Amino acid sequence: MKLNEHIVKGIEKDISPFYYYDLKVLEETLMTVKNESSKYNYKVHYAVKANFNPKIMRLISNYGFGADCVSGNEIIHALKMGFSSNDIVLAGVGKTDREIRLALENNIFCLNVESLEELKIINNIALDMGKFAPVALRLNPNINAKTHHYITTGLSENKFGIPLTMLDNILDEIQTMDNIYLKGLHFHIGSQITDLTVYEDLCKQVNEIQIDLEKRNINLDHINVGGGLGINYNNPDDSEAYNVSNYFALFDKYLDKRPNQSLHFEIGRSIVGTCGSLITKVLFVKKGIQTDFVVVDAGMTELIRPALYQSYHQINNLSSLDESCRYHVVGPICESSDCFGKNIILPKTRRGDIIAIRSAGAYGQVMSSRYNLRSTAPALYSDGTKVGFDDKQLFPDSIFTDKDHFLTPARAAR
Ligand code: LLP
Repeated sequence: MKLNEHIVKGIEKDISPFYYYDLKVLEETLMTVKNESSKYNYKVHYAVKANFNPKIMRLISNYGFGADCVSGNEIIHALKMGFSSNDIVLAGVGKTDREIRLALENNIFCLNVESLEELKIINNIALDMGKFAPVALRLNPNINAKTHHYITTGLSENKFGIPLTMLDNILDEIQTMDNIYLKGLHFHIGSQITDLTVYEDLCKQVNEIQIDLEKRNINLDHINVGGGLGINYNNPDDSEAYNVSNYFALFDKYLDKRPNQSLHFEIGRSIVGTCGSLITKVLFVKKGIQTDFVVVDAGMTELIRPALYQSYHQINNLSSLDESCRYHVVGPICESSDCFGKNIILPKTRRGDIIAIRSAGAYGQVMSSRYNLRSTAPALYSDGTKVGFDDKQLFPDSIFTDKDHFLTPARAAR
């Protein structure tokens, strides 16, 4: 990654740390996802949780993708950003009554249901509203996604989804629920998946489950296989690593299709991950006993992934081309885990150098916090625009006008 005029301007204006989004990279990714998914007539829902920045969301909705939401606020936001309600799905193991109502009021495509307990509540609410609730059952296929254990979701020990052993009973119960319309099955086995063979296992499971359902005369409108396609954190400039083309082709090969049944995906990271970098300035190069510390002005408050998952993000010094040295790159937060990388090889680094922490477009800015009463980092885009993160600039015409970043659905509905 190279220094450009927008990044320099951001540094000159002293807004560091900030997120920098390369819209060209985003558009290229969107075009690829669009072309590859259209080959098979797949429906792609963008997982809003990965990055809900309005500029990014509007661009994604312009490409005609649906939205995968995990809260009432995400539904409201997705609608404002131009996503059509019948392309929105709502997931989540703990939907509130208000969120269920909001979903039904807006006639979203489907609620992905995670338990019998939830199904009963949805049925009651739908009855009360005089509606049919379109649902997909989120099944837990007990597949090891071979990713970090914090972001694996399809194992029976995880809180997500309905265990396969409970499926028969739930299908019996659904017969008695007048306001539930069972239209699909939903799966999501984890995130940052780089070994695509785990999806072959998923397809095999889905095929078997469908055969069982058909024995019960249950024919479904759609299958939603979730998201999880990984990106190449080791080399952010390599777009070929776990490419969407292989990913989509795999489902075409291994999933037994039914006529009139649509196949849905919910990808987040693979859409927005590579377009974003966290830009930060070097405050000090502090002498250490074995290794010197590069102390930057960004911390785990701006990008928590390294601290939370020990995840690797490539670090580039955009200011120096000198000979290489070894450093620990750390932030200013009062936690030892506030470290972006240990023993990182960088060009000789000095106070004032500009550092890019790469592949931070997904689960970066949106997972930031105010710990240590930090200011929230703004976003700067490759078209020269800048948007604050926690103020009215970010959501100028939306529900997010309160002092809080995120409103509860109760307050949002007022
Ligand atoms: N669908 C469901 C039901 C999900 O739970 C998720 C992500 C997705 C789709 C999108 O997955 P993706 O395509 O983005 O992998 N904060 C973590 C990632 C958490 C993912 C949560 N669920 C991280 O920074 O790695």
